[in-house]
Amino acid sequence: MPTPNFDKPIENLLTQLSTREKIGQLFQEKAECEDREDLRARIRAGEIGSLILASTPFAGNETQITLSVEDLNELQRIAIEESPHGIPLIYGRDIIHGCRTVMPVPLGQACSWDESLVRECSAAAAKEASARGVHWTFSPMIDISRDPRWGRVVEGYGEDPFLVGRLGAAAVEGYQGDQLHSMKQNGHLIACAKHFIGYGASEGGRDYNTTEITEHTLRNVYMPPFRKALEHGCLTTMSSFNELNGEPPSGSHRLLTELLKEELGFAGMIVSDWAAVTELIAHGIAANNSEAARIAINAGLDMEMVSRAFLESLEDLLETEAVSLERLDDAVRRVLRIKFCFGLFDDPYTAIRPEALEITPKARSLARRAAAETSILLKNEGSTLPLSPTAGKTLLTGPLLNVQKPLLGTWAMDGRGADACAYLTAFTDAWGPEKILTHETALMDQGLSIAHHHALNGVDQIVVFVGEDSSRGGEHYSVSDLSLPPGQVEYVEQLAAVGLPLIVVVTAGRPLLIERILRCANAVLYSFHGGIEAGRGVLDALTGSTEPRGRLPITFPRATGQIPIYYGRKNTGRPWSNAYVEQLPSPLLPFGFGLSYTSFECTELTLANERISNTSDSIRASVHVRNTGERSGHALIQIYGHDPVSSLSRPIRFLCAYQWVELSPGENKDVIVPIPVNRLGFYDRNGSFVVEPGEFILYAGLDSNAKLHARLRVD
Ligand code: NOJ
Repeated sequence: MPTPNFDKPIENLLTQLSTREKIGQLFQEKAECEDREDLRARIRAGEIGSLILASTPFAGNETQITLSVEDLNELQRIAIEESPHGIPLIYGRDIIHGCRTVMPVPLGQACSWDESLVRECSAAAAKEASARGVHWTFSPMIDISRDPRWGRVVEGYGEDPFLVGRLGAAAVEGYQGDQLHSMKQNGHLIACAKHFIGYGASEGGRDYNTTEITEHTLRNVYMPPFRKALEHGCLTTMSSFNELNGEPPSGSHRLLTELLKEELGFAGMIVSDWAAVTELIAHGIAANNSEAARIAINAGLDMEMVSRAFLESLEDLLETEAVSLERLDDAVRRVLRIKFCFGLFDDPYTAIRPEALEITPKARSLARRAAAETSILLKNEGSTLPLSPTAGKTLLTGPLLNVQKPLLGTWAMDGRGADACAYLTAFTDAWGPEKILTHETALMDQGLSIAHHHALNGVDQIVVFVGEDSSRGGEHYSVSDLSLPPGQVEYVEQLAAVGLPLIVVVTAGRPLLIERILRCANAVLYSFHGGIEAGRGVLDALTGSTEPRGRLPITFPRATGQIPIYYGRKNTGRPWSNAYVEQLPSPLLPFGFGLSYTSFECTELTLANERISNTSDSIRASVHVRNTGERSGHALIQIYGHDPVSSLSRPIRFLCAYQWVELSPGENKDVIVPIPVNRLGFYDRNGSFVVEPGEFILYAGLDSNAKLHARLRVD
């Protein structure tokens, strides 16, 4: 997307701004300030460039300030009419997976492996947020996360650089639209690729923690999604909280300037994470705010979120030449360019449209389809599912049967629990009370006695809703054990012992340990917090009125102690050696896995060209796939690469293409999947991207354990 050129008005403004005003442009204040009058005065003085519409540091799970459009317009009026140069404020807010219409959490959206769905969900979120006066969202989160203990695993798109990059880029397109100059009037938002970089590798899954990432892994695993988001026009990025190899990115010239701005060519603006500049002191690389400000701005950071190191110290630092005017001006230009691009100078206010604050039927129906399609069918013994309302009487039970807010997931600041459709409501509305018997107590043994009693008395099947509340995940909330909350697995096992068909719906914000559930249940459906339409969406998936098409964007371990476990690992020198004495080395469920109400078989992989030159465009893979079941369905063809010999060791497998195909019963097809040759490449010892000549093996199938393979020579 070409960025319009605003050099003239920017340079013109720069010549007029005082140093204090320039520094003001680099400061993002939080909207919830104790002293409202003081906030207005500082806007009037040109000392604030942006407001974050939040109240607290880890806003995802807490109630946050919501300013009305009238309030925001009034603050904007002060900036435009009363500040010395009338520069508009830019309003940022964490619009992460929907706004009032809460969509499935990002990890759930990732189960779609479908850029168009992610794009649609992000565009819908942008539309609602923009009607509320928001200009800028701190999304997408494209951290690679391979540790489900980390609460923020729910906010990203999973473990794989290629998939995360594709879905992150789709989110950017959804938020920003494709016409930069008309973003604002078309209800779009500026996107922010975060957190740059490596944050997902926090030690022990403990949030904000230390990360140690080699140059090789940084470039080949953590960087590619950012490259992709930037290629798709993402206008801002956020520097992360973690320290990386001894250097917090918010204070790293190597990461922010050399890697992000110079090597990746990022011309947009970098905002720090919340108070990450001042936190350089706690990290132990700055003694005080002045040092923190010097380090951060010289590293290439452009805007400071909430902490006041820039405000307090930059004037002095300029005077002593510890910071150059050139760097200050560069940062200010980047901030102003975003404001011009977004059209804030032409159209700084938001129209008051109360109707636009309500949930529309269109948004609700997208949320419902998203919740249904992203549900993952993990087990379906003897076609227990799809459920049929005519199948008799169903006992509905479990701790998540009749909850609303926990279905929204973390970061639902504008969502309301009351808008969410509980599972129980969905069933009751669709089937009528006579078809169901419910038991929603927290006391599992009571539930069990009801199940026992009704097994003899006309109940034909049981659906149990287990899982975790959204407050067990998100920023600041990690767990040390991936087990379900106490008692739930035991309850499921005891229900299984009743002997009726047992369907388990697991709702969570991360992969949980479900081996025992998979063993005893007849069918299992997994739903990452599904948003306001989780109830109806999951029911649609259970009945098959919408096909559950979820495929895992992250590996499911058998035990917490297996972490990190991900499909793109490296071989060891002794691949035959067992990993553990008391545990299988394999995960419970592989990346890419997910069943369907029909079954598919991939029987042949052929490559149009078995030799290809390094510079050729694409490998043309053809995968023969057949629907071997009795319903129509969508198969996700996945192609993984393997590079047996290269100058640096490569993962056992790396995803290099995927494609959905719809097949009716008995239908078979040759699915042509083009794979650009550069998908086989990697960053070498010198940091250069190379496709090394030699032999490659491509694997094709329905998950990352795909068996079909073909060899290919790259010359
Ligand atoms: C901290 C989080 O790390 C970040 O993702 C979020 O955007 C900011 N707070 C603002 O709320």
